[in-house]
Amino acid sequence: MAYSEKVIDHYENPRNVGSFDKNDSSVVTGMVGAPACGDVMKLQLRIDDNGIIEDAKFKTYGCGSAIASSSLVTEWVKGKTVEEAGAIKNTDIAEELALPPVKIHCSILAEDAIKAALDEYKTKQSK
Ligand code: FES
Repeated sequence: MAYSEKVIDHYENPRNVGSFDKNDSSVVTGMVGAPACGDVMKLQLRIDDNGIIEDAKFKTYGCGSAIASSSLVTEWVKGKTVEEAGAIKNTDIAEELALPPVKIHCSILAEDAIKAALDEYKTKQSK
């Protein structure tokens, strides 16, 4: 299967790989898995007091498209509000990376990771 140039670029030079200190109270984590393939994605966001995403990091154990999708979303969410980040759709990711139909679930994983991280944010806010 041929990967698009953008996927290969993110796969070979992934942006923002790593982790934040999970004891940092401004950090939230979204951890999701794709049952179909067993791939796992961890996305962390550092969100300031105004709900702006200051920084993002990821670790993905999975295929090239999953790594590219998570790398891309770390770039996209930086500087966005939590509302804007929550509006990112897997179809935006799939389109940007020109993912073929069999790799759409990889982009869904990235959308789910954002949602999972923002869920933790909302839970923290309501406390
Ligand atoms: Fe499952 Fe890509 S093959 S996340």
